[in-house]
Amino acid sequence: MPVRITKLQEMKQAGERIPSITAYDYPTAKLVDAAGIPMILVGDSLGNVVLGYESTVRVTMDDMVRHTQAVVRGAKNALIVADMPFMSYQVSVEDGVRNAGRLIQEAGAHAVKLEGGNAIAETVWRIVTMGIPVLGHLGLTPQSVNQLGGYRIQGRTLPQAQELLEDAEALEAAGVFAVVLEGVPGPLATVVTKRLRVPTIGIGAGAGCDGQIQVLHDVLGLGDRQPKHAKRYAELDRVIEEAVAAYAGEVRDGDFPTAEHTTDIDDAVLRELLGGVQSRVED
Ligand code: KIV
Repeated sequence: MPVRITKLQEMKQAGERIPSITAYDYPTAKLVDAAGIPMILVGDSLGNVVLGYESTVRVTMDDMVRHTQAVVRGAKNALIVADMPFMSYQVSVEDGVRNAGRLIQEAGAHAVKLEGGNAIAETVWRIVTMGIPVLGHLGLTPQSVNQLGGYRIQGRTLPQAQELLEDAEALEAAGVFAVVLEGVPGPLATVVTKRLRVPTIGIGAGAGCDGQIQVLHDVLGLGDRQPKHAKRYAELDRVIEEAVAAYAGEVRDGDFPTAEHTTDIDDAVLRELLGGVQSRVED
């Protein structure tokens, strides 16, 4: 049965941890879904790991719609959450509702994610009221990288930690079904997790969260990012480079393609083509 938001809340109640990961295209969505991941995020980290931008701020609604559509075609069981990109919900509540609607109606996502706390609580509430599930995102919120002065752990000081807790409660009151906690001290994430009824999904927030999320490319060893919070479970950079170099070598040496990769033609057709002179090109 496909995973929906109620399942994630049941998992929290049952003390079952929630593994989540990003995907951005059809083939990886298919693989991640087959691996049994209950929640896939089409993250705006797309900007960093797929589109080659330095940050997520240049990702557009059209980028998110296109990539979410591909993920939806690939994943049949997971709950698919699409990130709302920078400036798609910050200007007005109406913008937020309209753009959340696009990600559901045009792209096929089941839910959307927004970065921020109290400041966007009204927008979150309006989106939820329209029947669209919202995943919150607090702590190190990459769309605010310029304001935060870099990718820094958030919530280390008492005022910051208190603000994060209040933001989490504001999001819960606004109706989010879960909250991502990114780049916050582990003990603070544990406090938030205990305080909220909805699940917390951590990234760089320690083991005390109800679930974990990672950027697919970091886990697969694809690309040069090596954030402290990530563990590489494979070295796909090396696998891909070796495979492509082997292919290039065989082309250069004339070892690829062979007859196995080539379609033949009837001798009669060939003879006619060549005016009855030869039966094979190589003859
Ligand atoms: O865009 C993204 O991939 C994210 C996760 C890191 C939570 O927001």
